[in-house]
Amino acid sequence: MGELVLVKLGGSLITDKARLETPRMDVIQRLASEVHSACEEQEGLSLVLGHGGGSFPHRPADKYGTGKGLKGAHACKGIALVQDAASRLNRIVVGALIEEDVNAISVQPSSCMVTENGAISSAFLEPIELALKVGVMPVPYGDVSLDRKIGCSIVSTERILDFIARKLKASRVVIAGIEEGVWEDYPARKKMAGQITPENYEEMIGHLHGSESVDVTGGMRHKVERAMSLARDTGIRTQIINGSKPGRLKDAILGKKVSGTLIRK
Ligand SMILES: Nc1ncnc2c1ncn2[C@@H]1O[C@H](COP(=O)(O)OP(=O)(O)OP(=O)(O)O)[C@@H](O)[C@H]1O
Ligand SMILES: [Mg+2]
Repeated sequence: MGELVLVKLGGSLITDKARLETPRMDVIQRLASEVHSACEEQEGLSLVLGHGGGSFPHRPADKYGTGKGLKGAHACKGIALVQDAASRLNRIVVGALIEEDVNAISVQPSSCMVTENGAISSAFLEPIELALKVGVMPVPYGDVSLDRKIGCSIVSTERILDFIARKLKASRVVIAGIEEGVWEDYPARKKMAGQITPENYEEMIGHLHGSESVDVTGGMRHKVERAMSLARDTGIRTQIINGSKPGRLKDAILGKKVSGTLIRK
């Protein structure tokens, strides 16, 4: 196998997070076509293409408090509704990839991973490894999880990719959203951090917030925390880019220099 790159298409990018269950079909199609052409261009490139939930699972997760564990009379309903909403968006993404000639298959995290207090504690990754080996692209996504300690939780795409990156020794991670990168002056958005390293991390964390929309896993702050932990422990770098700019996802996947924020050791 050649280079393994892990990608997240942010829920903020592929859905309208302000409107319930509203996929941005034109964006999803364009991103699927960029993924296809990146794979055509770099022989031996393997991708795990994760995506976030956007306005699909975040709403029921928020309503039923699913990320906080099994609490209240309707917690089980929350688990069912979150899994259903997340997987419906996943079918849309996988469908668009297939349309663009990418041989993509769903990986349902709630069925192959469990968490312990919200952190992934075990996962059956062999289907992902075998899919990559035969040249099929695994597509996991932000989902509900069954949790050994608190009953249920939410497993973000960031956590899933962090886990896969460590186990399968990925070379890089690319996270595409709707921001140019990580802003040092959010929400003014005039000054962007080119790099986040252990040296400026403590200072940056003060500028990192949750999402503007309903987001149960903590918006930009969560992304940077996970990416820094991955970089510190393994040296694997994460690039946060603006996927709404045509061509940028493709260039980032190919390892070209693009505008965005690089998180590294
Ligand atoms: N310093 C910052 N720089 C950039 N964005 C920030 C910052 N602080 C907070 N944010 C917010 O975090 C958002 C990105 O996180 P969010 O979880 O909404 O996106 P996503 O991961 O694409 O969505 P999903 O979780 O559905 O996949 C940005 O769009 C912005 O609203
Ligand atoms: Mg998020």
